[in-house]
Amino acid sequence: MDLATTSVISLPHQLGGSNSVADLPSVESPVAVARPLRIGQVELTSPAVQAALSGYSDWPMRTIATRMGASYSLAEVMLDKFVRQQRRGRSRTAHHLRVSNQDFPVGGQLMGSDPEQFAPAARVLVEAGFHVIDINFGCPVKSAMGGCRGGYHLSQPEVALEIVSRVRDAVPTGIPVTLKMRRGIDETSESRDRFFAILDGAITRGVDAITVHGRTVVQKYNGPSRWEFLKEVKEHAGSHTIIGSGDLFSAEACLRMIDQTGVDGVSVARGAIGNPWIFTQFNALWKGQPLPLPPTVCEQADVLQEHFALAEECYGKDRCVGQMKKFSIKYARLHPDHARVRDAFVLVRSQDDWNAVIDRWYTDDRPGQYPEVDEAQVCTTDSSCSSFTADRSAESDKAESEPAR
Ligand SMILES: Cc1cc2nc3c(=O)[nH]c(=O)nc-3n(C[C@H](O)[C@H](O)[C@H](O)COP(=O)(O)O)c2cc1C
Repeated sequence: MDLATTSVISLPHQLGGSNSVADLPSVESPVAVARPLRIGQVELTSPAVQAALSGYSDWPMRTIATRMGASYSLAEVMLDKFVRQQRRGRSRTAHHLRVSNQDFPVGGQLMGSDPEQFAPAARVLVEAGFHVIDINFGCPVKSAMGGCRGGYHLSQPEVALEIVSRVRDAVPTGIPVTLKMRRGIDETSESRDRFFAILDGAITRGVDAITVHGRTVVQKYNGPSRWEFLKEVKEHAGSHTIIGSGDLFSAEACLRMIDQTGVDGVSVARGAIGNPWIFTQFNALWKGQPLPLPPTVCEQADVLQEHFALAEECYGKDRCVGQMKKFSIKYARLHPDHARVRDAFVLVRSQDDWNAVIDRWYTDDRPGQYPEVDEAQVCTTDSSCSSFTADRSAESDKAESEPAR
């Protein structure tokens, strides 16, 4: 199929499961539109991208996601101040600026409060090799809101648009600048008006794509992402690139979002943690092919081991086990004995422990399973999202500098 031209593809099977667009028609017929996703001059191979995920979308995760078919990925959000400090070279946190051919193309995401501070930070990200510079106007956690960063900017369009102008001016023309927004601070009409003021102003200022998470800042992760809003945004934005976010836990949900809202791309977040196969599965559906079977136990073992090796390369022997433990617990959802495998990973303290879990549970090849959508993975409190702001990274740097506040 020529994906460069708009075409109609057939859905190979019924798209069941949870749907956050109660009053939009469900997709059961050949209606999904396959067209490439563009970010500025860059035409991506698929509309499915790896979302920015603080504490997760590091170089190893992005490398695996790219290999599995994500057409683009975003690094974890970084504070402007933290990024500027990286200039001085810090070995413990240097991995935040790591970009390679294996996770190409990759966006670096910035968050801060003062418009003036964004330009130098954006330049550091460009120097580090990020292909796209993304600005975070969505982070809902207390420390971000209290520090007038992230989602807070949705309450002040003038400041938000000054940030956009400063970043656009600082970044070479060939490098796209993009935005990540929630659908507003809250449900009020003022909040909605401010959202559209920022959206329109950002487009006028040359932003190349906008990712919209269909939850409000106040909502955090309670309740569904409102896909009807994404549909309105796409209709409003016309030919400008809009990427949808929220409740993308399966390949079918990704396709359903594109079909029901008309967004140009889908930003897969929690649904990709421990399930990079979601990209392969989505790409198959998007091309009109049947949904691939979930990976077998031995296929999962191969990717887990690959992920471990990348984490070891990135963080070193001592630090990689903790990082891999949280991913492995998520990978366990695809295992036919998922509860027992998850419990085994929870007890891991060392690389030997981790290898023992792989030897015990991942050598006997059996069919895997699609992960259940687990409500418990919904992150509802500030503490469960504490890594979101990358404050942690800045704070872990305390010995060398003051934490960003
Ligand atoms: C643990 C966690 C970390 C996140 N980190 C970021 C981030 O660094 N930057 C960002 O723009 N969004 C971040 N998000 C928001 C996601 O990119 C996404 O918009 C949100 O999770 C909704 O998608 P989902 O319901 O499919 O997970 C984060 C979400 C979670 C759960």
